[in-house]
Amino acid sequence: MTRILIRTGGFIPNFKCKYSTAPKSVATIQIAGKEYLTDNYTNVTPKILSYLNRNLHLRKDNPLSLVRQRIVNYFYSSFTHRGNPSFSVYDNLSPVVSIKQNFDDLLIPVDHPSRAKSDCYYVNNSTLLRAHMTAHQSELLRAGLDNFLMIGDVYRRDEIDSTHFPVFHQVDAVRSQRKEQLFENHPGLEIFDPTFDPSNPFAFPISISDPAKQSCHTLEAAKLMEAQLKNHLLGLVKALFGTEIKHRWVDEYFPFTHPSWELEIFYDNKWMEVLGCGIVRNEILANAGPNNSIAYAFGLGLERLAMALYKIPDIRLMWSEDSGFVSQFQNKNVNAKITYKPVSIYPQCTNDLSFWLPPSLTIDTFVHNDFYDLVRDVGGDIIEQVRIKDKFVHPKSKKHSLCYSIIYRHLERTLTQVEVNEVHKDIEKAVTTAFNVSIR
Ligand code: DAH
Repeated sequence: MTRILIRTGGFIPNFKCKYSTAPKSVATIQIAGKEYLTDNYTNVTPKILSYLNRNLHLRKDNPLSLVRQRIVNYFYSSFTHRGNPSFSVYDNLSPVVSIKQNFDDLLIPVDHPSRAKSDCYYVNNSTLLRAHMTAHQSELLRAGLDNFLMIGDVYRRDEIDSTHFPVFHQVDAVRSQRKEQLFENHPGLEIFDPTFDPSNPFAFPISISDPAKQSCHTLEAAKLMEAQLKNHLLGLVKALFGTEIKHRWVDEYFPFTHPSWELEIFYDNKWMEVLGCGIVRNEILANAGPNNSIAYAFGLGLERLAMALYKIPDIRLMWSEDSGFVSQFQNKNVNAKITYKPVSIYPQCTNDLSFWLPPSLTIDTFVHNDFYDLVRDVGGDIIEQVRIKDKFVHPKSKKHSLCYSIIYRHLERTLTQVEVNEVHKDIEKAVTTAFNVSIR
């Protein structure tokens, strides 16, 4: 299965999110003051909606915000036109987007696994919480922009552990060039193949079968863009991690770029993927307006970078309001070298949960992400990790059973086994009702 989305992974007083169920047949959800009809696609939960508008990436004292500023500074200072930055920054776009924005505009096939209900938070069958910042690419191109950064919170259903949280933050970008800019020093060269007519872009069968380029582009244009893209992104990684950082480029596939790559850095004795990127598919540019340019795009995850840069061991800490955490990032120069010092390590409690599935489900059809969401809804942020421990089919009765380990840890105090047992009991009850299982 081709993966296209990588994890490159307090309430605002006026922010309302509530479920209303009257009249009976037409349920609605309110998100940030707007009402949405619900349907059989709806799977956002009140817990997930409570993360909207937290804007961690804009808070002065948050590590994600420090990394954001360093990235923006790099692009501002590296690319100027007559003394002005040539990139514009959008960091306040609503995370509630259409299926068209998140998928269709980006040429993501209708049957692509990334659209599955088990992977996304749908508001209803036409609207979801964006799963990546690339969701805004087409609308900003359509608005006439050529160089821009899109920064914000993205939402994905996934496993639960120290590096995954259903909400994380991304920086996505587009840089476009027209012939005069790209080939400033070689005016004889062209962006487009001579048989391609940019004013009639859909008359030409665009193919991506050549690994080096899209069929509408010249090899010179594709190679020069590739060189610029790699150079600029390597510059960014060196600005963040130092010039000695070891890196490698890995060929990748994304429906919205061709060719596409991932950049990995060698960090903490392992290869870590930091971003996805590529040359924007010409169909996307042509649909959105510009028909005389070529563009590169990339997307990176802020959490992963912040965790590596500041040695933050658990992704949930990004959401901490605890002064012991916040104060370590407050009033800091964005380029200061900060190493997070754990306030204290509170112990974990691990409780197992095993259950028999109803006859309608098997160990292969049970949706783990549904289970993870429910555990998070009931247990809240004290859930540190949920691991599948055992899958079992009874040899005689043929009944299927699953066992998960749920690891509890509070970030700010010690949990007692008694209080963990209570939460665990509540999870057992909720799981029994939601999935019709019987606890073993
Ligand atoms: N949207 C991708 C993700 O979430 C990352 C990405 C890859 C963004 C390539 C891009 C791009 O703009 O060109 O994993």
